Amino acid sequence: ISEGMSLDQVILNTLSEQKEIDSLIFASENGLDHQKLVGAIKSLLSLPKEYIKAEQKQISVWELTDEGKSFVANGSYEFVLYSAVTKDGILQKELMKMPNAKIGFSKAMTLGWLVIDKKHEDGPTVFRKVDDATDVVKTMLEDINTQKKVDEKKIQDLKKRKLITPVVTKFYLVTKGTSFNTQIERPEADLTADMLQDGSWKEKSFKEYNFKAKGAPITSGYLHPLLKVRTEYRRIFLDMGFSEMPTNKFVENGFWNFDALFQPQQHPARDAHDTFFISNPEMTDASKLPADYLEKVKSTHENGGYGSTGYNYDWKISEAQKNILRTHTTAVSARMLYKLAQQEEFRPVKMFSIDRVFRNETLDATHLAEFHQIEGLVADRNLTLGHLIGILYAFFKKLGIEKLKFKPAYNPYTEPSMEIFSYHPGLKKWVEIGNSGMFRPEMLLPMGIPKDVNVIAWGLSLERPTMIKYGINNIRELIGHKVNLNMVQENPICRLNKV
Ligand code: PHE
Repeated sequence: ISEGMSLDQVILNTLSEQKEIDSLIFASENGLDHQKLVGAIKSLLSLPKEYIKAEQKQISVWELTDEGKSFVANGSYEFVLYSAVTKDGILQKELMKMPNAKIGFSKAMTLGWLVIDKKHEDGPTVFRKVDDATDVVKTMLEDINTQKKVDEKKIQDLKKRKLITPVVTKFYLVTKGTSFNTQIERPEADLTADMLQDGSWKEKSFKEYNFKAKGAPITSGYLHPLLKVRTEYRRIFLDMGFSEMPTNKFVENGFWNFDALFQPQQHPARDAHDTFFISNPEMTDASKLPADYLEKVKSTHENGGYGSTGYNYDWKISEAQKNILRTHTTAVSARMLYKLAQQEEFRPVKMFSIDRVFRNETLDATHLAEFHQIEGLVADRNLTLGHLIGILYAFFKKLGIEKLKFKPAYNPYTEPSMEIFSYHPGLKKWVEIGNSGMFRPEMLLPMGIPKDVNVIAWGLSLERPTMIKYGINNIRELIGHKVNLNMVQENPICRLNKV
């Protein structure tokens, strides 16, 4: 057997020279591990062509028990005992103190190796009956160990004494198969385009499909923590009967982002410090803005109406046309409410959105230039601040937050406005969790929303609860180029626990 030749090749080469291989004999003659040889036989059998035939056989061989092994090492109990008896004899009670003396003594007596003088003056004394003894049991065990033939009757004695035990060994008788060849043609694992083109597939054999194989683990398609938390919020809104607003529009114009929301054009949020302006295209075509409504927005800003005095400044369409990245999802709410107002007959709605917004902020551990807002609104007749507070309790209860406090605040588009605080049991203090309010008549009435309809709304960030949930202190570990992709893969699913 040449060095480095694979075992299956060895088997094939041997079969080309001899009729049959007995795997046990072949392994022991060539110093091979029998298990490995059997492995090679099985791999040859698994090939689509029949290179070999193999018939499984079994033989029972005798193996030494631990006690049997100790006999080989130290001699049988009877021989050890016999050796301990000196020429002048030994007191029986002394002799019986040796380990395994009882069995050894009775065997040695049966073999006629020893005699006992019960009437000796010092007490019962044991003497040698023969000058020499041979440890036949030990010799037989050695023979069995080296696979020499041992008389069957003796074998049974040794078995009765539990010195040997039968072990069944499976082996193979290997012969040539119908497609025997010393050259193994490995079946193809893939059918390639080349094989199809040059027709070589006709001559090839192919590996069979293994339909029981487990698929390779999928290494992609894990949800980012933000998306998991978003899914939870979405579920809460859907549970409460809200429908989702279309938020697939990152680029807005000043009109929907600010003017429609009664946010004056000289408001600081509209200048370059907070808003990203688009340079190309810089402006939205004026024709894309609803003309009637635009006129109403302009006059409300300039002179008020609907019981308001307005801001008393010159409203410029050029400011409204400026393209920007939306700074809040309330721009989407404005578009949706305008659409609602265009319906023949007003119908109450509950709507929500969760999506990305952009602000030109100073970046730090908790602020990024883009983040996500969660926003909900309800439009119905005769809604009051009480309804807003009630729905906020219901919403946050679904998040496991039951203690809320409200603080008067200011938004250009809501009046009254309230910041929402919740008690954080971990931090043991009240923390701000959102903003809310009732949309102003200066926003709703120019749209054409009926006078008796009020719209309550609230908003919060998606990042903040996510960071708390996943124990992330630096927002850059949550989004952006520094995100550890393993984090995305290994994070557990999101559960907003009830505290
Ligand atoms: N748009 C507000 C913000 O950007 C949140 C808000 C939504 C406030 C709805 C009141 C009503 O923070």
